Amino acid sequence: MNRLVIEGGTPISGEICVQGAKNAVLPILAATVLAESECVIKNCPRLRDVDKTDLVLEGLGCCVRRDGNTVTVNPTGLCGCSISEDLMREMRSSIIFLGAIVSRCSKAVVSMPGGCPIGQRPIDLHLKALRELGVEIVEEHGYIYCTAPEIRGADIHLDFPSVEVTENIMLAAVRGNGTTTIINAAREPEIVDLGKFLNAMGARISGAGGSVIRIDGVEHLHGTEFTIMPDRIVAATYLAASAITGGEMCLKSVRPRDMSAMLKVLRDMGIELKVGNGEIIQRVSGPLRNIHIVRTMPYPGFPTDIQSPFMALASLARGTSVFVETIFENRFQHVDELVRMGADIKVEGRSAVVRGVERLQGANVVARELRGGAALVVAALAAEGITVITGTEYIDRGYENIEKYLLACNAKIAREP
Ligand code: UD1
Repeated sequence: MNRLVIEGGTPISGEICVQGAKNAVLPILAATVLAESECVIKNCPRLRDVDKTDLVLEGLGCCVRRDGNTVTVNPTGLCGCSISEDLMREMRSSIIFLGAIVSRCSKAVVSMPGGCPIGQRPIDLHLKALRELGVEIVEEHGYIYCTAPEIRGADIHLDFPSVEVTENIMLAAVRGNGTTTIINAAREPEIVDLGKFLNAMGARISGAGGSVIRIDGVEHLHGTEFTIMPDRIVAATYLAASAITGGEMCLKSVRPRDMSAMLKVLRDMGIELKVGNGEIIQRVSGPLRNIHIVRTMPYPGFPTDIQSPFMALASLARGTSVFVETIFENRFQHVDELVRMGADIKVEGRSAVVRGVERLQGANVVARELRGGAALVVAALAAEGITVITGTEYIDRGYENIEKYLLACNAKIAREP
C-alpha cells in the first residue's frame, strides 16, 4: 500500500507521450491464446491490470516475456482452460478470456469477475451471447462452466452496445463455424484495435468501429506483431490536469479523432486546443467556463471513464455544471472526496450538480476506483496545500507511473510507502 502526496498550485506544463490504451491491450492479450505461434505486442503500458492479465496467460500455460513496453506471448504450451478465482476477483476484464478460452479449448471454467466497484456490473449479456454461439453454460457455486464442442456462427443482437460483450463475441466467433454478425455492437476505438489485431492473425472481421460487425470464422490463427493504440482516457486526464492548473500541455502519440466528445467539452469550457496529426496542444488563457450538461454515453458519446476527472475540472469553473452518469450506477464515489477538498457538488440519483468554487484545499482523500482516483489527482494538483491520496492501487490499474509523467510537467508529487 502506498500513497500519493501532492502539493498543488504549480501549473502542469510540458510534453507527454501518451501510454498505450489499457482497454485495448487487455482484450488483445486475451486474444493471444487463439494464436498458434508467438505474438509480439508493442506499446503495452505497465499497469497493474496488464500484470494480472499476464498472470492469467501464464496460468493457462502461455509463456509471457516483457521487455520494456513490449510483451511477447507464446501460447504454444497452452494447457489450461480455467482462471483462478483470485485473478477473476481482482479484474473485471478477465471475463473477456471466456470467449477466447472456450474457442481454443472447447471448454472454460471461470468464477464471477470482480473489479472496480462502480456498479453492479452483471455478466448476463456475456453469457447470453455465448449461448447464442452454441456454448453450453452452467453457473454453479459462483463458478461458470462452459463447454462448446463447436462454436456456431449466429446473428447476435445486443440489448446494449457493451464493450466487453462485443469483444467476447469477436474472440469466441473468430474461429467458429460460419458467420457471426453482431448487431448493435459497441463502437469504441479499442474494438477497432482488437479487430485489427485479430485480422493480422488471419481472422476475417469487418465492420469493427460500426454498429454491425461481421465475423467469418477461420480454422487457424497465427502469431503476429502489433502496436497498441494510445489511451484516449489517459490523454484526456492529462489535459484536465493541465487545464485545472492553468498550464500549457502538448500531448504526443495521441489520436484526437478518438477523443472528439472530450475535446468538445474542453473547448466549451473556454480551453484552447490545437489538434494536429498525433498531437494535441492545449492552452488556458482565461477562467474556465461551466459545462452546462454532460451525459455519459457509449462511444462516440462522452465516455463514462472521463466523467470524474472532468468533474474535478468543473469544480473550479465559473458557474454550474451538470453531469449525468448513464452507464454505471455507482460512479460518483469521488464526489465525497472532492467535497472534502472544498468542492460544491450535490448528487441526486444519476446526476451530479457541480457549482464552481474559487479554490480547492488539500486534504486526506481516498481513491475508491480507478478513474475516481485520477479525479482526485487532478483536483489535488490545483488545490492549496498538500493532498494525500490513498487507494493508489486503483489508479495504478490504468495509469502507468502517473507521478513520473506529472513530475516531468512540474508537478510537486511524490509516491510514499
Ligand atoms: C468497458 C471498459 C470500461 C468502460 C466501459 C464503458 C474495458 C476493459 N473496460 O467496460 O473502462 O468504463 O466499457 O465504456 O474495456 N452490462 C450488463 N450486462 C453485461 C455486461 C454489461 O448489464 O453482461 C451493463 C453494465 O453493467 C453497464 C453497461 O452494460 O451498465 C456498460 O458496460 P460495458 O460496456 O459492458 O462495460 P465494460 O465492457 O465492462
